[in-house]
Amino acid sequence: MAEKLSHIKLLVLLVLSISVSYTEQFQSSQTQTLLRIQHLLNYPPFLKSWNNVTDFCNMEPNSTLTIVCYEGSITQLHIIGDEGAPRLPNNFSIDSFVTTLVMLPSLTVLRLVSLGLWGSLPSKLTRLSSLEILNLTSNFFHGTIPPEISSLTRLQTLILDRNNFTGGLANSLDSLSALAVLSVKNNSLYGSLSDSLGNLENLRVLALSNNKFSGEVPDLSSLANLQILDLENNALGPRFPAVGNKIERIVLRKNEFTFGIPQEVQSYNQLEHLDISSNGFVGPFPASLLSLPSIAYVNIADNKFTGMLFEDLPCNPDLDFVNFSSNLLTGKLPSCLRPGSRNRVVLYAGNCLVSGDNNQHLISFCKNEALAVGIIPHHEKRKVISKIALALSVTGGIIVAIIVVGIVILVVRNFIAQRAGHEPPSRFVEENASTSYTSKVLRDARYITRATKLGALGLPAYRTFSLEELEEATNNFDTSTFIGEGTHDQMYRGQLKDGSFVTIICLKMKRYHGIQHFMPHIEIMSKLRHHHLISSLGHCFEYYLDDSSISRVFLVFEYVPNGTLRSWISEKQIKRKLTWAQRIAAVIGVAKEPCCKNLQLQPAFARRVHGKRASPKFSQWIE
Ligand SMILES: *[C@@H]1O[C@H](CO)[C@@H](O)[C@H](O)[C@H]1NC(C)=O
Ligand SMILES: *[C@@H]1O[C@H](CO)[C@@H](O)[C@H](O)[C@H]1NC(C)=O
Ligand SMILES: *[C@@H]1O[C@H](CO)[C@@H](O)[C@H](O)[C@H]1NC(C)=O
Ligand SMILES: *[C@@H]1O[C@H](CO)[C@@H](O)[C@H](O)[C@H]1NC(C)=O
Ligand SMILES: *[C@@H]1O[C@H](CO)[C@@H](O)[C@H](O)[C@H]1NC(C)=O
Ligand SMILES: *[C@@H]1O[C@H](CO)[C@@H](O)[C@H](O)[C@H]1NC(C)=O
Ligand SMILES: *[C@@H]1O[C@H](CO)[C@@H](O)[C@H](O)[C@H]1NC(C)=O
Repeated sequence: MAEKLSHIKLLVLLVLSISVSYTEQFQSSQTQTLLRIQHLLNYPPFLKSWNNVTDFCNMEPNSTLTIVCYEGSITQLHIIGDEGAPRLPNNFSIDSFVTTLVMLPSLTVLRLVSLGLWGSLPSKLTRLSSLEILNLTSNFFHGTIPPEISSLTRLQTLILDRNNFTGGLANSLDSLSALAVLSVKNNSLYGSLSDSLGNLENLRVLALSNNKFSGEVPDLSSLANLQILDLENNALGPRFPAVGNKIERIVLRKNEFTFGIPQEVQSYNQLEHLDISSNGFVGPFPASLLSLPSIAYVNIADNKFTGMLFEDLPCNPDLDFVNFSSNLLTGKLPSCLRPGSRNRVVLYAGNCLVSGDNNQHLISFCKNEALAVGIIPHHEKRKVISKIALALSVTGGIIVAIIVVGIVILVVRNFIAQRAGHEPPSRFVEENASTSYTSKVLRDARYITRATKLGALGLPAYRTFSLEELEEATNNFDTSTFIGEGTHDQMYRGQLKDGSFVTIICLKMKRYHGIQHFMPHIEIMSKLRHHHLISSLGHCFEYYLDDSSISRVFLVFEYVPNGTLRSWISEKQIKRKLTWAQRIAAVIGVAKEPCCKNLQLQPAFARRVHGKRASPKFSQWIE
């Protein structure tokens, strides 16, 4: 028995001594690796002290050098050279360098900054499969970012700023599901951005500034954690990027964005910094941006934003910086932006504001410029319209569509009735086309959330369109896209950027009404969303520049190609008329749908149905 015990002791001793010598060996191999790195980096001064007796795992970390070990293995290596360090000499080999690095297989953090590294990043770097943070800022890497990098599935932070990487961002980035920070600023990357960016659901920071990326920004609205979007100085556009509402910082400066600011921006309660300067934005500036709850910095300089500012516009008291310079704004600077006790910077030279200084243009300049960029067709203003008729195109679901048209006609008649009845509101808080709403309207605008909820039906969410978008969809309202007209409305077929077809109805307004006037109607319109109905997809207002009233309203509906409703219901030559039994059955069916029940609660609607001017007869709804 004793003999057996002593055998076991011997065995334990043996195992212990083997493992100790293994650890020693392992550590000495790490030492060899680090000394080789020192050699390959050409013995920079801050690594001078390294030698074969340095205890690397127990060095005091400082700003140039940090090594972290865990159970004897190096897990973090940070080497930060002098800013502006020159490129390493020609005998440097990035291949040997990376071959050496991958002998530290436990690395989770690798930060090699300003070391003069150059060459094409070898894909064998991905053998460091534990990497969570890779930061190669300020070196001289060129060539493409190796697509194999997407096999580093633990990667949380990838920073390749200030190199000379070329080519695009890999399409396969979406396999980096842990990625929270992606930053490739100041490189020479180009091409369009891959839709796969929209799948990086943990992304918090996306920084692509100072490259040559072009085309549309993919839909990032599903990135619920995105806080920073920095796209400065590329050739991206024309559509404003769609992002989630946790966004804190949006920088689109120096790109090719032209379409308006979408209404969703109003829900960016955490937005602090918005820089959309030096783009080609046209259309009204949504001044309600100035009162977003977290906003501190707004730069819209150097665009062609129009619109009238008013002295009593509200702004967030924390707003520290505003640059309106070089736009086409009219009216007066809001008094909340006047120099006060705070160190607030407010710049507005090069507009047509009434400000008492001579950095402003004459108002005619802004008007003419706005006309020149096609914001408002001048001749429209003169036209006089007495009546609006409306037609819709329909599919096989005609029966139900009748109801829609009934409602649309009602709403449109209401437009006319109200135009005849009321004076327009005496003035408008702000002008605000296809982009967003006044804060007052916003507060009242239950329709936004409701319409968004209805987006769950599988239809695209109800939204505002920009005039540019509609012009693009119809090739500038080309005659080939014209599908019909009533007495004073026109109907066009268009194709949106996403490929879907739409029917666009253009209603010209005679009297000058502000946005508030139209909102109740638009609210009803936005509820016409049901899978059996031709759904309204959105609207667009076109403004008169001088008084911010609305010149044309565009209503956008789903396009369905089987002829117009009018022809199905009323044209004499069509035989297949619907019986009254069919019509009433359809009305009852639709009224039971939740989407349409609520309609009856709407005051405008109710007035028409129960008021003096209309009796609730279905026959009157339909022609
Ligand atoms: C590169 O060349 C320099 C001399 O120009 C030499 O001192 C250095 O050791 C060489 N480095 C490598 C990695 O061969
Ligand atoms: C950081 O530490 C290394 C070695 O421990 C030393 O060579 C280097 O000079 C230090 N750098 C600074 C900025 O103190
Ligand atoms: C460390 O390097 C010195 C010369 O630089 C050498 O004499 C010594 O043997 C080396 N020690 C080890 C443990 O390699
Ligand atoms: C990456 O390195 C740069 C330069 O040293 C530094 O400013 C930045 O904070 C680093 N980022 C991370 C996440 O390490
Ligand atoms: C970056 O790469 C491009 C294309 O390879 C080259 O034309 C350019 O000169 C490089 N820029 C720098 C700063 O090295
Ligand atoms: C990044 O690029 C921009 C434009 O090319 C340049 O103005 C800026 O200084 C660069 N930033 C750095 C840190 O190199
Ligand atoms: C404000 O915008 C103008 C026009 O683009 C520009 O010249 C000016 O430098 C900007 N001011 C600041 C402080 O950004």
